[in-house]
Formats: sequence, C-alpha cells, structure tokens
Amino acid sequence: MTAALPHGGDLAAAQLQWGQAREAWLDLSTGVAPWSYPAPAIEAAAWHRLPSDVSALMQAAERYYGSSRLLPVAGAIAAIRALPRVCQRWHRRARVIVAPLSFNEHAAAWSRAGHSVRAVPVAAFDAAVDEADVAIVCQPNNPTCEDLAPTQLLAWRERLAARGGWLVVDEAFRDGTPERSVIAAAGEPGLIVLRSLGKFFGLAGARVGFVAARPLLLDLLHEELGPWCLSGPAQVVAAAALLDGPWQAAQQQRLRSGAARLAALCHGLGLPVAHTDYFAWTEAPRAQALHEALARQAIWSRRFEVAGQVSLRLGLPAGEDQWQRLQQALHTSLHG
Ligand SMILES: Cc1ncc(COP(=O)(O)O)c(C=O)c1O
Repeated sequence: MTAALPHGGDLAAAQLQWGQAREAWLDLSTGVAPWSYPAPAIEAAAWHRLPSDVSALMQAAERYYGSSRLLPVAGAIAAIRALPRVCQRWHRRARVIVAPLSFNEHAAAWSRAGHSVRAVPVAAFDAAVDEADVAIVCQPNNPTCEDLAPTQLLAWRERLAARGGWLVVDEAFRDGTPERSVIAAAGEPGLIVLRSLGKFFGLAGARVGFVAARPLLLDLLHEELGPWCLSGPAQVVAAAALLDGPWQAAQQQRLRSGAARLAALCHGLGLPVAHTDYFAWTEAPRAQALHEALARQAIWSRRFEVAGQVSLRLGLPAGEDQWQRLQQALHTSLHG
C-alpha cells in the first residue's frame, strides 16, 4: 500500500505533532467553505435502490453549469485519477506540464500512470505549451491564487488541440466567480473542465463533482469509472444545492466578505498574502515560524514546501469567536 498524499484537514497529523484534544483545534487547513449547504432529508428509497437514474441531478447540473456536456463523478479527484489512464489511449507517455505548487493529486496521478510530468511555473506555461501533450491548470490555483484570463486558457487549448493535446482546467474553486469559467467552451476539442461541490457548497464529505468535455471523452471516462459513481443520497443533496439560487447568492457574499476580512487582517499585521474567496496564502519568509506558532495555539494551517520554499494557507474562520481567536493568535505569532 502506498502512502496517501498530504491534504488539508488532517487534524490527526496536527494532534500527533503538537498534541491537544481534537476539539481544541481550530482547523483552518482546508479551502472548504466553512458553511455547508443544509442537506435535505433523504427518503428511505434513496438508500435502498441502485442510483442508476441520474436525471434529476443532471437537470440541476445542466442548469447550474450552463452546459449539457457533463459527467457526474465522486468528487473532482475521481476524474483527476482516471484521466491519465484514459489519456493512454492516445499517448502512452504524454508530456504533461503542471505548476510546481498546485493541487498535488494532478502530478501524482499522471506520474503514477507512467506519463512524463514536468513542473512548470504558470508564468512560463505559454512557452512550454507547444512542448506538451497535456497542460493542467487550477483556476484559481490552490494555493497560490494565480487566476489566468479565460482568453489565455482558450488560446492554449487551441494550440494543444491542434496536435491532439489536452488542456485540463480544474475549476474546483471557481463557483464564487463563475464569470471567469471556461466551462461554456467544453465542447471544443481538447478542453476538459473539472468542477467540485466540495468547496463552494461546503459538501466535501458528499464526494460530488462534474467533468465537462466532449462526449467521446466523457464516455471513455465513464467507462473507466464504472457504474453508480455517485450514491443516491449524494445525488439528492447535490441536486438541491445546485438548484438553490438564493443560498448560492448568500454563500457567495459570505465567502467574499470573509476572504476580504482575512486578507485585511493579515495585511494589517504586516503579513503579505494573496487570496481567493476561500483562503489566504503567504510565502513570506516567516511562513514556517508562523505555522508553528499558530500550531502551538491549536490553530491548524496548511504548510506547503517546494524546493525548500515554505508557504502557508489559511482557510476562513466560521464565526466571530473563531475570528477573534485567529486575530489574537496571529497577533501573538507575528508581534509577540
Ligand atoms: C484544486 C483542487 N481540485 C480538486 C480538488 C478535489 O476536489 P473534490 O473534493 O471534488 O474531489 C481539490 C481538493 O482540495 C483541489 O484543491
């Protein structure tokens, strides 16, 4: 058995390293929205029957994403892990480019399937695209917050597709800013868009995501993933969340103002950060010291390290008491 990759939300690791009871920790190590969609009651039949009829979920998804070229998957991660195997039908050893600091499952999945993965900073993608068969970008990127113009992405798609290549756009954190999505172009050759209900809807535990791409690609992916990808109860919750416009508008507002507050708090304490609607990220030289100082105060942040450079991601606190606790801890950590 191989070890799982590190992810946020691993409070067991925090406890092991720093002690404290689980309940004592304030977990800000994930990018999942701290408010989750209130799941409706699940009727008994949804537990009992095989979840073959996905029509209600698909209707909701088509309306929400504005696309009918969709495949439901058990979280974006199911697609991330299956795509490299599907790609082998065209390229036994595809040349893949992905940013060195990005959601780590992408590079791992393509390497595991025997493809050749090169870490290329997003700023250097334009020069590298013509030497690649597959380019992967997270939009916005987790954790660095880079967010490219859709026109730039679509230009890369065209260059890759002209040689039978793929552009994979992971839009797991796109829901708060849908106007920057490229999902409407998912009918174009070579474009594969990944979506997740884990982050914006706070439904990481339901394991629901979607892939938008051309029908042939979706068919091959479906074949690879097999039947009944999504449980019946997960489908019910996801369909309700995707149709609930008023809840989505309120969530967008909550996330946006929470993220602005988090960035202002950090900047006010002299800590430079970039931010998305879900988290703030810093590569300040004191990132390692800050991670440790917060951990001593039972606040779990997500630490990243690439080529010796440590950086730190902080998710959003859920309520005023958590804000006060974070503010106090950041102040103590940064200014004694
Ligand atoms: C950029 C990115 N894509 C995809 C995922 C996985 O999403 P899901 O929970 O839908 O599998 C994550 C999870 O952290 C992520 O950060």
